[in-house]
Amino acid sequence: MIKEIVTNALKKKSPDELIAVSKKSELKKTLNVFDLIVLGIGAVVGTGIFTIIGTAIQGGPESVGAGPAIIISMVLAAVACVFSALCYSEIASMIPVAGSAYTYTYATMGEFMAWMVGWILMLEYAIGNITVACAWTGYFVQFLKGFKHILPAFVTNFPMWLRNDYRYMLSYCDKFGLDPHSQMPFLFDKIPFAMNLPAMVIVFLLTILLIKGVKESTRFASVMVGVNMFMIISFIVVGAFYIKPENWTPFAPNGFEGVFMGAFLIFFAYIGFDAISTTAEETKNPQRDLPIAILGTLIICTILYICVALVLTGNVSLGQIDIQAPIAHAMRVIGKDWFAGLISVGALCALTSVLLIYQLGTTRILYAMSRDRFLPKSLRLIHRKYRTPHILTWISGAVVIGCALFMDLNISAELCNFGTFTSFIIICIAVLILRKTEPDRVRPFKVPFSPLFPTLGIITCGGLMVYSMKFLTTSSLYFPLWLLIGFAIYAGYGYRQKRLEEKNKVKKFREKVKV
Ligand code: ALA
Repeated sequence: MIKEIVTNALKKKSPDELIAVSKKSELKKTLNVFDLIVLGIGAVVGTGIFTIIGTAIQGGPESVGAGPAIIISMVLAAVACVFSALCYSEIASMIPVAGSAYTYTYATMGEFMAWMVGWILMLEYAIGNITVACAWTGYFVQFLKGFKHILPAFVTNFPMWLRNDYRYMLSYCDKFGLDPHSQMPFLFDKIPFAMNLPAMVIVFLLTILLIKGVKESTRFASVMVGVNMFMIISFIVVGAFYIKPENWTPFAPNGFEGVFMGAFLIFFAYIGFDAISTTAEETKNPQRDLPIAILGTLIICTILYICVALVLTGNVSLGQIDIQAPIAHAMRVIGKDWFAGLISVGALCALTSVLLIYQLGTTRILYAMSRDRFLPKSLRLIHRKYRTPHILTWISGAVVIGCALFMDLNISAELCNFGTFTSFIIICIAVLILRKTEPDRVRPFKVPFSPLFPTLGIITCGGLMVYSMKFLTTSSLYFPLWLLIGFAIYAGYGYRQKRLEEKNKVKKFREKVKV
């Protein structure tokens, strides 16, 4: 019995089967290296560099800050990503099929691990989006403040309990010795109530938009990336004239602990390069272009991020760095209010597009998992008029809106990082497994120095994850809980559905043979 369960849980989809299906794909092969890098930067540059950098420098409720040594944290995070990026490149060029980590795991480790990776990817996409939505609120508030002479005060400065979750409000009251009853309403006089209203509204609106159908195009991505790049480069150029080198000392106020925690948090800013591998079927020359684009995106983003960090920490003294909208706030500190407004508009555009892409990603992954019978068929119903999976889209939207009631930007970013580190580790393991099980398969791109590089990927990602678990007590509790829920759904539903699917296939085959 146990042997049978284990054998079933390890059942794989063969890479040949996957490639054969993808060859039938009618997607046009139009993307070149440039398009892929544009797409990569579009998915990568967002909350991490516009918002989380503030907490990574200053420290958060459960972590100490890196200070100006954030640039070392950035290099560390980039190194952890490079090893995984090389592994993504090897598999993506070898099995150029859409679906990313979920598909690759199905081909290498079987159905149980594939389900778990899909479930973990939900942390990256859906829970990661809570972070982006909260960051959106930060920049929205900054944007409104720019109109304080025109708009009424309750709009430009609306109550804190309407733009934060209740946990943040409680810790805020605690920190400043305030009576919580004076800062937010209490349901039945007992239950504190607060909500991040702008975050919830933007996710609701984007969910409706996604149900109506959104055509992703590289042209749209190029415009967003153009705005992004313009804002970031302008920030670097303008801010460079206002750097005060004395702000860079002390360089690492919290030593190694601050640098490592900074690396863990700023890792969020690099997430998204893996999205490039999902376009494998639409790339003209995936074997050559995917690795170049994945590594190119990482290098460009690392250089930009380091320049932003140098300017930010050089412009604003450590204690003054804002944690909700640090880049726009830095411009206010140097007296460039108009430019801060411009940065807020740019950041809002960038964050809106990340939200849209990630909400779409959540739905796509859930759709693929439901097509593989891991989730009920009824969930993947297509809307009659708009031809979109509306039920799954509503579910993804509801999860983000619901979680925004009790999760803040930091907890959701930490959870998202835990999930992404885990999927990166699994990709590194998949490369090692495929080198053993499929040694003769053509590999247009090979991770150099294997097994050393994939192993270093496992060690760097695993190391940062385990180290931060020591300090981040809340998210270290939620993460295993998330895995446990995933395991329970597989055991209680997915496993049985897969067996039913197999029985049906055999039945159909027999009927065909009889005919
Ligand atoms: N890297 C993406 C961002 O920073 C997830 O928003």
